[in-house]
Amino acid sequence: MYFDSHAHLCDEKFDSDREAVIARMRDAGVTGMMEVGCDRASSLSAVRLAERYGWCWAAVGTHPDSAPEVTPALLEEYRALCQNPRVRAIGEIGLDYHYPDNPPREIQQAAFRRQMALAQELGMPVIVHDRDAHGDCLEIVSEFPQVRGVFHCFSGSLETAQELVRRGWYIGFTGVVTFKNARKAVEVAEWTPLSRILIETDCPYMAPEPHRGQRNDPSLVPLMAKKIAELKGIEEEQVAKATWENARKLYRLP
Ligand code: NI
Repeated sequence: MYFDSHAHLCDEKFDSDREAVIARMRDAGVTGMMEVGCDRASSLSAVRLAERYGWCWAAVGTHPDSAPEVTPALLEEYRALCQNPRVRAIGEIGLDYHYPDNPPREIQQAAFRRQMALAQELGMPVIVHDRDAHGDCLEIVSEFPQVRGVFHCFSGSLETAQELVRRGWYIGFTGVVTFKNARKAVEVAEWTPLSRILIETDCPYMAPEPHRGQRNDPSLVPLMAKKIAELKGIEEEQVAKATWENARKLYRLP
């Protein structure tokens, strides 16, 4: 039994065959999934998906790419959505400095801080997107010491991972950990205690080997468990069980 801790099954890339993907995922033993919003529209879709399927839970939030949409009115909407028992986290939120034409850094930081403040106020865990912004992400999460969550698709240094684990955060691993040139992700996965690891597809992106470059989907999350088991020299089943339990704890699932 596997838990995909970060999926975007509402993405339009699944519009033509979503039911078939869900059937395949169930056949693969994936019995839990967190559907993560990236903006207002996908957050609302995530809640609808989680209301429809008992194995699915939702995170609502705005990705740094859409940071300018984070107004007081939208924060009120997210606050209301968080009252829905199917909503278990705020995310994905964070900083993305990779593309020069992304929203200005100050706007991303303001949107991140407002959503962190909401998480703190509501006692919700967060899902953090950090791309090429490790220092600033760590600094902003430090401003909200009560908030815990996961740095998803972790791409930072071993030192950053160690600092996060020390503070009680989780580290999320995608298909990147299976890539042949994934030296850094491998190093972090080898070090990170099993009790702090989440596995995720981040589908439709980040497909693991041997599907790299293709559309990803939740039925492939066992490949991440398999790779982490190899790195740690333990059974895949042990990784599957621990990561399900970690997701259950972080997202406070029944
Ligand atoms: Ni994502």
